[in-house]
Order: sequence, then structure tokens, then C-alpha cells
Amino acid sequence: MEIAANTAPVITIGSAKEFADKEVTIRGWLYGKRSSGKIHFLLVRDGTGIIQAVVVKAEVTPEVFELSDKLTQESSIIVKGKLRLDGRAPGGVEMTVTDLQLVSLAQDYPIGRKEHGPDFLMNNRHLWLRSSRQHAIMKIRSTVIKSVRDFLDSNGFILIDAPILTPAACEGTTTLFETDYFGDKAYLTQSGQLYMEAAAMAFGRVYCFGPTFRAEKSKTRRHLTEFWMVEPEMAYCDLEENMAIQERFVAYIVRQVLEKNADELKILERDIELLLKVEPPFIRLSYDEAVDIIKKGGVEIEWGDDFGSPQETYLMEQFDKPVFVYNFPAAVKAFYMKRHPERPELAVCSDLLAPEGYGEIIGGGQRSDDLEYLLEQIEVHKLPKDAYEWYLDLRRYGSVPHGGFGLGIERTVAWICKLDHVRETIPFARMLTRIYP
Ligand code: 4AD
Ligand code: MG
Repeated sequence: MEIAANTAPVITIGSAKEFADKEVTIRGWLYGKRSSGKIHFLLVRDGTGIIQAVVVKAEVTPEVFELSDKLTQESSIIVKGKLRLDGRAPGGVEMTVTDLQLVSLAQDYPIGRKEHGPDFLMNNRHLWLRSSRQHAIMKIRSTVIKSVRDFLDSNGFILIDAPILTPAACEGTTTLFETDYFGDKAYLTQSGQLYMEAAAMAFGRVYCFGPTFRAEKSKTRRHLTEFWMVEPEMAYCDLEENMAIQERFVAYIVRQVLEKNADELKILERDIELLLKVEPPFIRLSYDEAVDIIKKGGVEIEWGDDFGSPQETYLMEQFDKPVFVYNFPAAVKAFYMKRHPERPELAVCSDLLAPEGYGEIIGGGQRSDDLEYLLEQIEVHKLPKDAYEWYLDLRRYGSVPHGGFGLGIERTVAWICKLDHVRETIPFARMLTRIYP
């Protein structure tokens, strides 16, 4: 049995409303099924939405009714039928089936309606992606990435791709993934920043966007070993200007999600009141002030310590808008950071922390533009000077004050979707204990 598409146009479920009262063909998979003897209610999904397709025994051939009876979850099917607007139906439209074709009968599907543990779901990630919650998260991720590109492209930034294989560390040597490069050592990139500094000296405002890698040995809800980062870099830019662009950037991303993904936010039961508050100016706290707040809250910290999860979580439970924490102690930050002119124990940098306990989504700051200082830091951090000669050239030939930042896509999506763990924000998560599927 073949369904002739010319008698009923092939449409997507997402556009079904436009075809009310028409006969159409939909190609998808069986998401769920309910039966009441003489009627089968098929929930059909096609990637653009879910529609209820009703098979009435008296209105179809015995073959079609029998087929709809034996359909298993996730069987691939092509349904033909007439659409009707129905306010109660998912998506506002329902189909009365006239014909049904089986493409492939699915075996017993492992993901059922019952609760599954996270390990089981992550082992079945290739199938879990079909569920409506995961679908909603991936659509929001897609909006976040498009917004990132749109904002930067329309604010004078040029996309410059950074290499993935590099001879040098950017963010410390403890999280490097090492690989053999024809007898030499190479690493998977931790950050494209150093290359963006070169590009900023050539183009002014640039950004890279791509996967970055860190051999994170900690098992937390915020750490992946492979994550996506967007890294803008600007020549002639100071810390204040850097923070100003970050808050406009993040507000734009959130606004785009609110606009384009209202349905997805609803599926995730996201309370959007707090997202509506994400408008500039964000709160600005010096590291000194932030430490005082954390101390008063009874969370362990001493001046000089970096923030860990408990400190960030506590701090960000106190605010309902994003917060910049600026001027961290230089000792806990990367080698390239510029020192504060009056307080040399501080770095001219900022982290942007997301509210509702989420914590850091952006790290950034001003880069040292001083050759002598960087030479000294490369030694202090025990980095191989040869691998950084090209980077030092940027200070030899027309050095200028400059800065930029890196926004982690997965942490941003986790916050916007209000998820417990970053593992659900990326199609196939890579973590300390996971590289499958
Ligand atoms: O603060 P980080 O380490 O900063 C940098 O890499 C700078 N070179 C960026 C720059 O200035 N161009 O990382 C930036 C962001 C973090 O705020 C976080 O959102 C994300 O990258 N990130 C991670 N996300 C998931 N898993 C991990 N292991 C991450 N490490 C950092
Ligand atoms: Mg950081």
C-alpha cells in the first residue's frame, strides 16, 4: 500500500494549523497511543510538533484499522487524513485518519512513560533526544546559538575560527587533553582566546565559536569535558566596556528565547518571570564585596580563594538578576590577565554569574599588553616559552589595551531552561565518566 502524496500534500506538523479542513499527509513516528475499542488515538511526531491522529474503525479499511492497532511506540509511519482545528488538541489541530502506511515497525522501545534514572537515559541519549523535553531544550539551544551569532554579526564583530589542535595551554595545564602530533605534543584547545587576541589586532572586533575541551576531573553538574564556547575579543577595550557589551549580549539572547521559544519554555515548565528581568544594567560586585556577602552567609571562604560551586550557588541565590564579579585575585586566574594598576594583587577581569543559583556563565577581562610582564608570567606558570613566541609578538608589534570574554553555551542553556545538570543541554555529552553514545 502506497499513499499517493499528490492527493494530499505532505506537510509538517508545525504548519498543520494552516491546513485546517484540508486532507494532508504527515510523515513521522508514533509517539504514543491510546485506544477505546473502536477508536485509536495515535500521537504522531515529526520533529516539528506532535499531532493527534484519530483512527475510527467505521471510517477506514479493516487493514488500516488493524495496522493502527498493532503499531508500537516509535514505529515510523505515514498518515493521511483531514485536519480539524481543535483547541483541546496538542498544537491546536487534530487529524481524522483516512489512510495509514507503515514504514518500519519499531521493536520494544526502551524509553517508556515510566520514570528512568539519569544513567539509563544518558546511555540511551540517541533515543532520549526524541522526547518532548529534550526536544524543547535542543530547540532553545539552537536559538541561543543563533542569537549569539546574530548579535555579534550585527555589532561589528567578524567570525574568525580558532584552531582545535594547539601547541599551548590557555587556561592552565591541569585540564589539557594531550595528543600525539607526529611525534610532538599537541593539545585539544581549551579556549580560542589567544588566537582571538591575534585576530583582534588584525580586525578590531572578532569572535570564535566552537567546541573546547577540558580534562575536568571533577564530577559536577556544571562541568563537561567538551563544551561549546563563544569568545569575542576587542582591541582598545577596557573592563567597563567589556562588561557593558556582555550584559547587552546576554539580555539579547534571553529575549530571543522568550520570543521564539514560548512553547518550549512551557514544556519545560520554566517560570519566565525571572527571565523577563534579565535586562541591563546587571549587578556589579567587586570580588572583595562578593567575598563579604558569602562570608556573612556562613559559606566557607577566605579572601584570596577562588569561588567554587558552593560559593557561587550561595551568592547567586541572593540575586534575581545576573551579577558581574570583577577584580579577582590574580593568583587564581590565568597567566594572561592584566594586573590592576593600584592593587597589583588583583586581575582586571570579571565573571558573569547567572541567578537562581546557577553561577558562572562567562569568564573574561583585560589581557596584559605588556611584554615584560607576560614573559615573567610564562615563567611563573611554568609554560613552555617557545610555544608562546607568536603570542608575545602581539606585544612586540603594536600592543594595545584589549579584552574579551568567553560564554559557555551549555551553562547558559542550563540556566535559561532551569535544568539541574548541563548534561541535558548538549546533544551528546562528554563527561569524566561518559563518552557513550
Ligand atoms: O572562565 P573560562 O575558563 O574562560 C576562558 O576560557 C577564557 N579564555 C574566555 C575568554 O576570555 N575568551 O571559561 C569561559 C566559560 C565559563 O564561564 C563557562 O561558561 C564555560 O566557559 N566553561 C565550561 N562549561 C562547561 N564545562 C566546563 N568544563 C567549562 N569550563 C568553562
Ligand atoms: Mg572562569
